[in-house]
Formats: sequence, C-alpha cells, structure tokens
Amino acid sequence: MEKSLLVIHGPNLNLLGSREPEIYGAATMAEINARITERAAAAGFQVDCRQSNHEGEIVDLLQRAAGSRTAVILNPAAYTHTSIAIRDAIAAIEVPVIEVHLSQISGREAFRQQSLTAPVCAGMISGFGWRSYLLAVEAAAMLARS
Ligand code: DQA
Repeated sequence: MEKSLLVIHGPNLNLLGSREPEIYGAATMAEINARITERAAAAGFQVDCRQSNHEGEIVDLLQRAAGSRTAVILNPAAYTHTSIAIRDAIAAIEVPVIEVHLSQISGREAFRQQSLTAPVCAGMISGFGWRSYLLAVEAAAMLARS
C-alpha cells in the first residue's frame, strides 16, 4: 500500500506570508505545501494538504484519517492551546499525529506555552519556521519504517 500523509493547517495559517511575518516567516501556505509535497514524495509518501479555520472540521479530518493515512502532520495553531475536542480526536485514532509549530511556542506568551494536543501526539516539532514541517515529514518517514 502506498504511504499516505495528511497535513492539516489550523486557523489563520491560510494567511501565512502576510500574517506576522516576523514570527511566522515570509513563506505562504502554498509555498510550504509545495516544499512538504516535494520532501514527502522523495520519502515515498502521497500527500494531501488541507487547511481549516474550524475546530469541528479538523476533528472530522482527523477521524477520517483513521485507517486511510500512514501519518498526520498537524499544526493546530491557536486550537493547540484550547481544544479538548482536537486532543480527544487525536487520542481516539490509531494513526500517529505529529504536531508542528512554526514558532517556538515554549518561548512565547504564557498562554501559548501549554499544548493540550501535544501529549497525545507521537511528538512535537516547534520553532524551526517552515522547516518544522520538513522535520515532521522526516519523523513520519521514520515512524513508517519502524
Ligand atoms: C502556531 C503557534 C500558535 O500559538 C498560534 O496560535 C498559531 C501558529 C505556530 O505554528 O507557531 O496560529 O501554531
């Protein structure tokens, strides 16, 4: 079976490129998706990149990933710090979820320093800008091999 990767970008990440570039960088979501897709293809993954500003839609995407994806790369964005529903969806599915942040959330405002979602993820990569996503692809490839 072909290895399949789902990438989920949470709220406001559709604005990357123009949104607080001093924190999140100048790359747009489309540019980041192209870099992810290239790296993932080299690692043998078919990739599907999605973005949603809606908590329930992210829950639906995670539930649908169960049984159909090798791994999920998720940047829950602001829902990282608030969403028990997304945490529960991650915990409910067998597929490994790798949490990603562009910024180093542990060095930012107090309300961003806690992730409700990371403890139920396979792991978290934070602080490397758009390269956080490429490191997550490497992690997904490693998990698929193990
Ligand atoms: C973010 C960090 C979150 O605190 C913030 O709400 C985001 C982006 C990041 O990628 O650094 O929207 O997840």
